[in-house]
Amino acid sequence: MTSLLDELSAIAGEAFAAEGYPTGLGTVQPSDRPDLAQFQCNGALPAAKIAKGNPRAIVDKIATRLKANPIFSQVEIAGPGFINLDVSDEALARRMGALATDECLGAPETGKGKTVLIDFGGANVAKPMHVGHLRSSVIGDSLQRLFRADGWHTISDVHLGDWGLQMGQLISEIGHRGIAPIYFDPGYTGPYPQESPVSMEDLEEIYPAASAACKADTARLQEARRATAELQVGRPGYRALWEHFFKVSRVGLEREWDSLGAHFDLWKGEASVEPLIAPMIEDLKARGLAVESEGAVIVPVAEPTDKKEMPPLILVKSDGAVLYGTTDLATVIDRVKSHDPDLILYVVDQRQHTHFEQVFRAARKAGYCGKAQLEHAGFGTMNGPDGKPFKTRAGGVMKLYDLIAMATEEAEKRLAEAGLAAEYPEEERKDIARKIGIAALKFADLSNHRTSDYVFDLARFTRFEGKTGPYLQYAAVRMQSILNKADSADFTRGERVVLHTPEERGLILQLLALPNAMAGAEQNRAPNILCDYVFTLAQIFSRFYTAHHILSEKDDALRTTRLALVGLTLSVLTKVLTLLGIEVPKRM
Ligand code: ARG
Repeated sequence: MTSLLDELSAIAGEAFAAEGYPTGLGTVQPSDRPDLAQFQCNGALPAAKIAKGNPRAIVDKIATRLKANPIFSQVEIAGPGFINLDVSDEALARRMGALATDECLGAPETGKGKTVLIDFGGANVAKPMHVGHLRSSVIGDSLQRLFRADGWHTISDVHLGDWGLQMGQLISEIGHRGIAPIYFDPGYTGPYPQESPVSMEDLEEIYPAASAACKADTARLQEARRATAELQVGRPGYRALWEHFFKVSRVGLEREWDSLGAHFDLWKGEASVEPLIAPMIEDLKARGLAVESEGAVIVPVAEPTDKKEMPPLILVKSDGAVLYGTTDLATVIDRVKSHDPDLILYVVDQRQHTHFEQVFRAARKAGYCGKAQLEHAGFGTMNGPDGKPFKTRAGGVMKLYDLIAMATEEAEKRLAEAGLAAEYPEEERKDIARKIGIAALKFADLSNHRTSDYVFDLARFTRFEGKTGPYLQYAAVRMQSILNKADSADFTRGERVVLHTPEERGLILQLLALPNAMAGAEQNRAPNILCDYVFTLAQIFSRFYTAHHILSEKDDALRTTRLALVGLTLSVLTKVLTLLGIEVPKRM
């Protein structure tokens, strides 16, 4: 189903074409002055430039053509050559009927036949997820849902950080502690125990200790580097330990993502491209793209037009270890070979921007991208009240799991304050609180443009008023309860939609604008566009609800129309919340 805006643009485009101007001039947009008109078309001024003619004469001709089309109830010339447009109530009613029977609610099919691969940021093995990973998961998940709804084939990869120095640090710390000597015995050739010598909790304690030891003592750092390099060339005991790290971490990480309701398709990581690295470096060297420099192997990626200095991509350090730039480059090869995507989107902290620029340039120079466009969809940080990245009260990194628990607790408080869900069974109330807590976190995160930083303020995020996730959940629950109370005959009374009031028209226009919000959010990789859209929808609905009788409306046709509007608004609201990864409780 084409969107209303596209249909109007096509009609205006034809009018311009009939007068000998480019069709593109017919682009119609929502009016800047909704008090004067629903839509506007500004093409006559550029047309006058092309024809070196008088805009007024041109706009007259275009307006005359548009007036002949019954879809418009008003065509008015404004200012030097703008055209204000209103769509007739009949046309709106017809469109509303079409929307109600469209399973996809008018979703644009921008991704038809295309594949996008979404990189979920690269949380690290052996470290608990922290709030920085909240943003990757929340934004990545929402983008994946949006692209899928727009018809793309989506593949998401967690891309675990499992091959770098932190692995060597863990290994050497475990060696020092003498926890599992068998893995360090050069005379032993396996098999190694099935059972991991360390649990996720152990790793959470061992990793910070290892990292501190390396910071305090360069000898320990050297040792960790050596262990990293030995792991990477395949020393069996280290490799076996690494597998244990990966497995126990996966259990912990899965718990976090499950609780967020974020899912991805591939559990790959940096290590999974290990076999591709040596041949890739060979290839790059053979073609003169990679060169030796002070014992390291680098790919120079600076370009003459660079305004800022662009350092080379380091593939191999002088101690023989590879970095995550190396694995990221090899991963491009792997992804292109396995999935041949049209787009690879990296949903990773904005501070990694230079890193990705280096990797992308190297990939393009080497011709590794296939048809894929490589793009970094960076994001800002979630800050504490001090304006610095959010920490626990004790100053440590806040784990995602604890953050979700905190949000759930706050949501329970809010429910109690509002006197909601009080008489429901304990288990249901807990489930509602969890859904509200997660909605609060996700909506607060997604409603800012992803590149801006924002301040964590749980009290504000969990409020039932204002631009919050819980407000929207509550709005949906209220709509559902109106529908529950309606007489079933009201839904079957026929297709006759009767529109009378500006509130009804305003609501329909917003419902019909969903495809444009989805297309805009996709184009800009910006779920905040969906947040704005859905918040505006809830506000417009609230105006409609205040201004009209619904269940108590005596006129059958009006009651049926208004209930249909409630039903459609609920469908659209729920759909957009789903795109944001937010669930609506059945009742509250
Ligand atoms: N694991 C790295 C880190 O936490 C980020 C890796 C970025 N690359 C990627 N493909 N996601 O710093």
